[in-house]
Amino acid sequence: MSHKSPKDFFAPLAVGAPAPLREIPARPSRAIHFFDPSNPKMAAKVPDMVGTVDVLLGNLEDAVKADNKLAARQGLVDIAKATDFGKTQLWTRINSLDSPWVLDDLVTLVTEIGDKLDVVMVPKVQGPEDIHYVDRLLAQLEAKGGVERPILIHAILETARGVANVEEIALASPRMQGISLGPADLAADRKMKTTRVGGGHPGYLVRQDPVDGDIQGNRTIFQQDLWHYTIAKMVDACAEAGIYPYYGPFGDITDVVAAEDQFRNAFLLGCVGTWSLHPKQIEIANRVFSPSVEDIKHARRVVKAMGDGTGAVMLDGKMEDDASLKQCLVLVDLAEELAAIDPKLKELYDTIEIED
Ligand code: GLV
Ligand code: MG
Repeated sequence: MSHKSPKDFFAPLAVGAPAPLREIPARPSRAIHFFDPSNPKMAAKVPDMVGTVDVLLGNLEDAVKADNKLAARQGLVDIAKATDFGKTQLWTRINSLDSPWVLDDLVTLVTEIGDKLDVVMVPKVQGPEDIHYVDRLLAQLEAKGGVERPILIHAILETARGVANVEEIALASPRMQGISLGPADLAADRKMKTTRVGGGHPGYLVRQDPVDGDIQGNRTIFQQDLWHYTIAKMVDACAEAGIYPYYGPFGDITDVVAAEDQFRNAFLLGCVGTWSLHPKQIEIANRVFSPSVEDIKHARRVVKAMGDGTGAVMLDGKMEDDASLKQCLVLVDLAEELAAIDPKLKELYDTIEIED
């Protein structure tokens, strides 16, 4: 690796670009709702969705037909200019770095609506060099467009090389906001044999031992999570870098139960949110990625019982100490962040009574 002084890591990469952030703000992003800005019906719904979802994302990449790429880009510019997003964040997913569209995506979006764009999602990231490319380009364009706060970068983890390099990707720039799992592209790139967009597969299972040697008899099977290893690896890389991990798409819109399970697994492992491909999934994500009343009740009880935060106490026959207090504070802090933008949650959390 070539040398770079730690001091220079936080210098803008272009003259006149805003200074990089030293910390990525913990803004709620439980659901990142995808819309196709080239689809007039979908685009017309966007202003009404402001305030109902943490993140609205104008998608320019996969799922937008090649013939519609320019219309999608222009549609996003028009929507962004015409809409006041309030506390809802506006993100985009640009085309991949090996496509003929991505350069104009960035030039147009940053110079025309750079002051409205919070995060640029970069698909099919292979290594830190992809982040460096976007990092410098964003700085040049921010300077050109007079953008006053740095636009952040979110990488999608959807290539085998990307997974191998995930730590370096997470640490590649102070602009790195987070990483999402891209199970469809990743499955294809790895030559996995599932054809589903995220979620489990009935063939990926473990089976109970035969009862009384009856191999063909009734043996309970347990479906396993195909994505566990990748999500766990991504969560570690993000936590190390001080950025945020996300689950990605769950393609079976009708199976709201399995979507909820997949989202909850990701939440329990450390993810802060997921993608939403349909308004139905927003409600699920908002619920799953917000700590439950029971979680907060327990967490606040531990905080209270632990006093100055040191030592150990017994609650309901369970040991609590400095470390389990920290676990509880993860939930208490998250609840506070979410309550600050979600009045219904605030009311819910405010009414919780703590037992001794
Ligand atoms: C998302 O982009 C995916 O490929 O799963
Ligand atoms: Mg993809």
